[in-house]
Amino acid sequence: MSIASVEYAARRRELMARIGRQAVAIIAAPGEVTRNNDVHYPYRPASDFRYLTGFCEPDAVAVLAPGREDGEFLLFCRPRDAEREIWDGLRAGPDGAREQYGANESDVTDAFVRALPELLAGREQVYFDLGADAARDKQLLEALGGLRQQARRGASAPAAICSLAEPLHHMRLFKSDGELALMREAGRVSAAAHARAMRACRPGMNEFALAAELHHEFERHGMSWAYPSIVGGGGNACILHYIENAAALRDGDLVLIDAGAEHAGYAADITRTFPVNGEFSGPQRAVYEVVLAAQQAAVAACQPGNDYQAPHRAAVKQLTEGLVSLGMLRGEVSELVEAEAYRPFYMHGTGHWLGMDVHDVGDYKIDGEWRLLEPGMTLTIEPGLYFRAGNADVDERYWDIGVRIEDDIHITADGPENLTDAVPKAVDEIQALMADRRA
Ligand code: GLY
Ligand code: MN
Ligand code: MN
Repeated sequence: MSIASVEYAARRRELMARIGRQAVAIIAAPGEVTRNNDVHYPYRPASDFRYLTGFCEPDAVAVLAPGREDGEFLLFCRPRDAEREIWDGLRAGPDGAREQYGANESDVTDAFVRALPELLAGREQVYFDLGADAARDKQLLEALGGLRQQARRGASAPAAICSLAEPLHHMRLFKSDGELALMREAGRVSAAAHARAMRACRPGMNEFALAAELHHEFERHGMSWAYPSIVGGGGNACILHYIENAAALRDGDLVLIDAGAEHAGYAADITRTFPVNGEFSGPQRAVYEVVLAAQQAAVAACQPGNDYQAPHRAAVKQLTEGLVSLGMLRGEVSELVEAEAYRPFYMHGTGHWLGMDVHDVGDYKIDGEWRLLEPGMTLTIEPGLYFRAGNADVDERYWDIGVRIEDDIHITADGPENLTDAVPKAVDEIQALMADRRA
């Protein structure tokens, strides 16, 4: 399963239509990053570049030049290299860029800097993400400066450097059928990974052993993690970005897992919280039910026409009611919500856009107002409650309980489609699945 080459071509056409015929867009893929000596970090293609080209090799540059006579799509990439290909694997090379990736023109990456003045000349704007790569920034600025010096000879340089974010990230926010199919698959495998972790969990196991269960499931489907997995037992669940995953899981504690797979460049992002020994204690269950009710209310608010904050408002209302009923807050729910009294226990947002990046691109507000949800958008819904040990406002029975529940929601004309609902989240479902493992 992958994005068809006609879809990449359609994306390039749409971007060119958005920037207009007086503009040129330059989208660069960074080089590899050294980890140590001659070892590199595994290369992850830059999402914007991959979205427009499907090309996954490092150190490349795509140029989209609307109306250019010799072709609108140029791709500069690493040359073929018989010696390097023995060590590192095949390269498409400039011929492959045309034959496999639909470039009208191609050359080696080093030729980009020489081609740049001709590509910029006569354009009014250049769309380019400044600040991502100092060397590419310098090439662009020098080419612009050179063109300006030739103004007396009739050369004209773009007057503006524009961010690609506005035209391109708007496109990425709305998922096509092809993208949705990949995200459903990422969601399905990630859900299976969470269920596998629930089945594997035993008191005394280490957090990293549970992480290994997740990663086994991702990797046996040819996927890898979309972000470093979080496996936090007991009080570690209250550390929002806990990735150390090095502690023993204790009988009687909860464990929070926030993990998702990346499939062909598209992320899933799931959180589940469950008892290490398979049975919720009374206080754990009480907190869990509050978070679950908040999560369900927030998912139900994922309706087209609702604004982006509607799910968050639904979640904080439920969480605040729960905090009152658990005795952690006192007062009128509406006043407590207004005063954000829940914040010591719920200090993050209720979600984010999801797509090629786990915290995906796309504006949350338009002209200062929360934007409306529309079919095609995909976001996470992930309320939680966190009670750190030592909080004098909280009964000790609740100390070190951290609960978050997160699903991936696609907005359709008929309401929310949950891409990750294959992993249990009701208390009884979780306990039944974990009871089975003992059989
Ligand atoms: N896994 C990161 C997040 O939930 O935002
Ligand atoms: Mn998450
Ligand atoms: Mn998330």
